[in-house]
Amino acid sequence: MTPHADSVLRRLQGPCTQSVLTYYEMKGIETVRPEDVDAYKANYRCFTPGLQATDIMDAYTDWAQTYDATLCAGRYNGPEMAAEEIAARVEEHHRHCVRVLDVAAGTGKVGKELAKRGFTMIDALEPSEGMRNLLEDTGVYSYKYTEFLGLGENSVPDDTYDVVVIVGGMGEGHIPVSGIDDLIRITKPGGLVINVMRLEYLDYVEAYKDKLEPYMDLLHQKGWWQKVDRKVVPNYAFDKEGIIFIHRVL
Ligand SMILES: C[S@@+](CC[C@H](N)C(=O)[O-])C[C@H]1O[C@@H](n2cnc3c(N)ncnc32)[C@H](O)[C@@H]1O
Repeated sequence: MTPHADSVLRRLQGPCTQSVLTYYEMKGIETVRPEDVDAYKANYRCFTPGLQATDIMDAYTDWAQTYDATLCAGRYNGPEMAAEEIAARVEEHHRHCVRVLDVAAGTGKVGKELAKRGFTMIDALEPSEGMRNLLEDTGVYSYKYTEFLGLGENSVPDDTYDVVVIVGGMGEGHIPVSGIDDLIRITKPGGLVINVMRLEYLDYVEAYKDKLEPYMDLLHQKGWWQKVDRKVVPNYAFDKEGIIFIHRVL
């Protein structure tokens, strides 16, 4: 872990969690309800600016066992929103033969929501060992890639999935804009890419601000994929708005 990351994580972990400096250092905290501040802080440990990918993986591994309780339904609704979007686009009798890749799968919340709706061919891509170990327990995933997306090559074959979904995998230090190229590469022509993320990240995450959406639009203009929908939704996480991007690969 880098010295900077270590000091940031120590301050976020420390007993004096509400110290003025730490509180105001957390971007987006102003609108969070008092009862959600501890959960926001736990989440922020993984989204703190300046962390390296290995630091983020360590933070997720530390958090893995309590992740689901911290980001419980109501406080975090992204997985259910994504599953609803996918289910709305795949007829019920086809769901068992649709290959889905859950990118940045975490503890498997998205896969579990998809399984509830009749999807049975679900793979996962998740780089954190601690999170990935919990995917085994869900019983809903077949193949599991322990890899990053967008940080160099990955081993997911070309044109493999009918649906590729990312929920909460975009944020500070997480999947970079360059990851979009791989999303398109691994999705079958005609397949869907669904990305659900926090809306405000488009404004204050430097790697995405004026970059993520313009790049998505550029690829639409180039004919790599077609924009199917872009919608802002309430109460994605911590009562904040989310954004759902849906593209069809051409
Ligand atoms: C907030 S969690 C979301 C997990 C799950 N999708 C959910 O909705 O509960 C973000 C996940 O992104 C993963 N992640 C971070 N950077 C990544 C990258 N470059 N490629 C793939 N996954 C990444 C983390 O390991 C973590 O499990």
